[in-house]
Amino acid sequence: MKDLHLITVEVNGTKHELVIESRRTLADMLRQDLGLTGTHLGCEHGICGACTVLLDGEPVRSCLVFGVQADDRSVRTVEDLANGDELSDLQQAFSKHHGLQCGFCTPGFLMLAESYLASSPVPNREDVREVVASNLCRCTGYQGIVDAVTEVAGSRAAARAK
Ligand code: FES
Ligand code: FES
Repeated sequence: MKDLHLITVEVNGTKHELVIESRRTLADMLRQDLGLTGTHLGCEHGICGACTVLLDGEPVRSCLVFGVQADDRSVRTVEDLANGDELSDLQQAFSKHHGLQCGFCTPGFLMLAESYLASSPVPNREDVREVVASNLCRCTGYQGIVDAVTEVAGSRAAARAK
């Protein structure tokens, strides 16, 4: 008999009640139960960071978190960044600075950067480089990703100062 649990979770501002197995990962819950396939699975071992989402605002590797651990909590995925057809500032900056090629790693980088800039609004370039080093990208050499996150940090700081 399967070990099933009823959980309540808020995902991108919408509440869901789900019945899931205790062994189901948060990544699989998002992708398979909720159809939010923007969260990507690379290694499924906590190494690559492609699966990074925000759990109560903190970045987590959703392949290492069980869905039941999200009970009564809120999750934010890459689908929450754009406003309709309008990409967020981070998404636009990744595009502008060629911070993506195949794009497989991009959702994880975006969510990592989103939480990082919320907690460290005025980072220097070296800080950004250190943070993004926790996720793996095979294509870009990281330069464009660092440029994008650094530019958005600057533009958000300028907007706050107005
Ligand atoms: S898929 Fe989760 S860290 Fe690689
Ligand atoms: S853009 Fe291809 S892995 Fe990062």
